[in-house]
Amino acid sequence: LLVSGLTGCNKSGGDTILIGEFASLTGKEATFGISSHEGTILAVKEINAAGGVLGKQLELKTEDDQSKAGEPANVVNKLISKDGVVAILGEVASSRSLEAAPICQQNGVPMISPASTNPKVTETGDHIFRVCFIDPFQGTVMANFATKTLNAKKVAVFTDVKSDYSKGLAKFFKEGIAKAGGQVVAELDFNGGDKDFKAQLTAIKTAGPDAVFIPAYYTDVALICIQAKQLGISIPFLGGDGWESPTLIEIGKDAVEGHYFSTHYSADAGTPNVQNFVDSYKKEYQGKVPDAMAALGYDSAMFLADAIKRANSTEPGKIREALAATKEFEGVTGKMAINAQRDAVKSAVILQVKGGKFTFVETVNP
Ligand code: PHE
Repeated sequence: LLVSGLTGCNKSGGDTILIGEFASLTGKEATFGISSHEGTILAVKEINAAGGVLGKQLELKTEDDQSKAGEPANVVNKLISKDGVVAILGEVASSRSLEAAPICQQNGVPMISPASTNPKVTETGDHIFRVCFIDPFQGTVMANFATKTLNAKKVAVFTDVKSDYSKGLAKFFKEGIAKAGGQVVAELDFNGGDKDFKAQLTAIKTAGPDAVFIPAYYTDVALICIQAKQLGISIPFLGGDGWESPTLIEIGKDAVEGHYFSTHYSADAGTPNVQNFVDSYKKEYQGKVPDAMAALGYDSAMFLADAIKRANSTEPGKIREALAATKEFEGVTGKMAINAQRDAVKSAVILQVKGGKFTFVETVNP
């Protein structure tokens, strides 16, 4: 279904450039999709207000994949075959980007994921790009934070085996722990969407770790933290970017208090770039503060527009070449180097849930 299109004619009209976007606007990870979509829309509006690209306005065609496996393939096929988009922005969740990427690759349409951090996403092929760091980096950041900053030498890892993101990040975190001389004393699994985690949490408690790493998405994480608290587990819980949603705190309340996670950006960073973005986002969306997905959605659209300009063409193959030729890009999520694997090399930030808010702890450079 068509969720939104900005003003302009369709591609056949010839005076707009049609770009596709797929996102989880409804379903289990809706806050991810809504945020990245809002950031993307804001970028497109700003680009169009400044005269567009190659003298044409950008037109964004957005499809909702409902946070559901199977849907990314459907909607991306439609965007390419029926709508004829010149490039595609999406998704946040790695499993859904992994589903869509082979379709973009086979059709020769460049895809830019704003926020999928699993390494396999861009390994799909030379048409697949991202504006975020990857999980080998994120896993190392949190392994070092656990062992060095928190002095947690014994850790437990609790993985969502239904999610490529979770499985990958768990693996890289464990490698980082081993390198830092720590020890993984318990490894437990769950399936995203489960409601009862007591058996695994009891096993974790028995193993006696100093900290627990949960590389999962916010809804599951909140429930896990609530049940951990009920079982009297009071050690720090750590996670990755999948934690970043106001829903984590709405559901988890005091059970998520004090815990830490890594992510892509902090609205408190205070640089002029971030401040301008935060101000215009708030103006556009009734005072809402942009989260990492919003910032990455914005950066993905800006990255694409910049490449179309340099390609001086709206041909997907030429756009791909210009994207691949990008060495460095300055986004609201910071300065990124685009490497030969089409991944962004850039800093991560660590946030803590404190007083019911996400508070900035530190920036970690690659
Ligand atoms: N990195 C996560 C994934 O690959 C998605 C995500 C990005 C979640 C940014 C929150 C913030 O699935």
